[in-house]
Amino acid sequence: MKAVTWQGAKDIRVENVPDPVIEEPTDIVIRVTSSGLCGSDLHLYEVLAPFMEPGDVVGHEPMGIVEAVGAEVPHLDVGDRVVIPFNVSCGHCWMCERDLQSQCETTQNTEHGTGASLLGYSKLYGQVPGGQAEYLRVPHADYGAVKVSKERPDDRYLFLSDVLPTAWQAVEYADVPDGGTLLVLGAGPIGDMAARIGMHRGHRTIVADLVDERLARVSGRGAETIDITDLDETAVAERVRELTAGRGADAVIDAVGMEAHGSGGVKAVHKLVGLLPDAIAEPLMLKAGVDRLAALTTAIDAVRRGGTVSISGVYGGAADPLPLFQMFDKQIQVRMGQANVRRWTGDILALLDQDEDVLGVESFATHHLSLEEAPDAYATFQKKQDGAVKVVFRP
Ligand SMILES: NC(=O)c1ccc[n+]([C@@H]2O[C@H](COP(=O)([O-])OP(=O)(O)OC[C@H]3O[C@@H](n4cnc5c(N)ncnc54)[C@H](O)[C@@H]3O)[C@@H](O)[C@H]2O)c1
Ligand SMILES: [Zn+2]
Ligand SMILES: [Zn+2]
Repeated sequence: MKAVTWQGAKDIRVENVPDPVIEEPTDIVIRVTSSGLCGSDLHLYEVLAPFMEPGDVVGHEPMGIVEAVGAEVPHLDVGDRVVIPFNVSCGHCWMCERDLQSQCETTQNTEHGTGASLLGYSKLYGQVPGGQAEYLRVPHADYGAVKVSKERPDDRYLFLSDVLPTAWQAVEYADVPDGGTLLVLGAGPIGDMAARIGMHRGHRTIVADLVDERLARVSGRGAETIDITDLDETAVAERVRELTAGRGADAVIDAVGMEAHGSGGVKAVHKLVGLLPDAIAEPLMLKAGVDRLAALTTAIDAVRRGGTVSISGVYGGAADPLPLFQMFDKQIQVRMGQANVRRWTGDILALLDQDEDVLGVESFATHHLSLEEAPDAYATFQKKQDGAVKVVFRP
């Protein structure tokens, strides 16, 4: 089959690889019909290169049609339509029972000290072959695979794999009080969807980004926007205070993460890490501060005293300098982590199954491309060119 493979930093290629088969009784194999490209894939593209191996199949936002079913997957049959969560979780361990599926103890990667395995996401997360491919083996499908109706287009359900539960968890963790203001940093797919969910819940929602068409998308759906192009981190927080009676936002979602635009300092480290041999780069990544913290420091500055910061952007350094004095003094609450996908899919599915497309998911993707177009799509999405906000591959 054809699959999108990582071959080196900024080197993505479509290759022929062996077709996946059932290996465990809880597996299924699906024929992938749609597969998203995510901001998290961009971290692999460059910064997390030390943890990738040439030939790794990438992609963690797939859906498709069941082709083969293991002996212990009673809820699925060949021909069913399923969406696959990006985290691989078992459903019955201590963590899964507590709805912390991204910490699943059956698939945790203890040798790296990391949480549950993720589809297509480096040695740090289990090196599970990913879903930007014609076929996918789905481990723990007896719990993970979410069966959806066959009535509507793929895009109605596709974002259940990652964007929707991630954005949903971000808003849940933000814990916006009634009548409160939510600030969302970043208007990529995650920030955009978090803003949509915030507005759906009736929160006043402000979104900050520097890409015109991304801001236009969210303002088209009713959000207030701040263009940060000519603002430093302090100036962004100052604008937010001006809009919120001088106090700051009740809750801030960081939907940007480690590759934030703003503070240049760490950019050199990112580049360096991408160029070094893995044996040197791996410990550097794990022990040093490698994140660009512009969005997070803005979040800490722009949140009101006693407010909440909810981080869905991915960070990777172990020794990043953070304004701990300010965090303590402002008495803010911080929540973060990979989305616990299966914790939220039931709630979200109830919205998606309505006739009305409440969150606008069917017009959410800006590009539908073939797998062969993946190398260009990664480059375009990274540079935020060509209006690319959400790219969906149709293998
Ligand atoms: N927690 C999870 O489970 C989870 C799941 C999916 C994605 N993510 C992470 O969420 C983040 C966003 O993902 P995405 O797909 O939307 O990616 P993206 O790269 O398309 O979006 C990031 C956006 O942030 C903007 N930005 C950059 N610097 C900024 C700053 N200083 N202030 C405000 N905006 C800024 C960029 O212009 C871009 O529009 C990534 O870090 C991704 O890895 C986390
Ligand atoms: Zn993703
Ligand atoms: Zn588990």
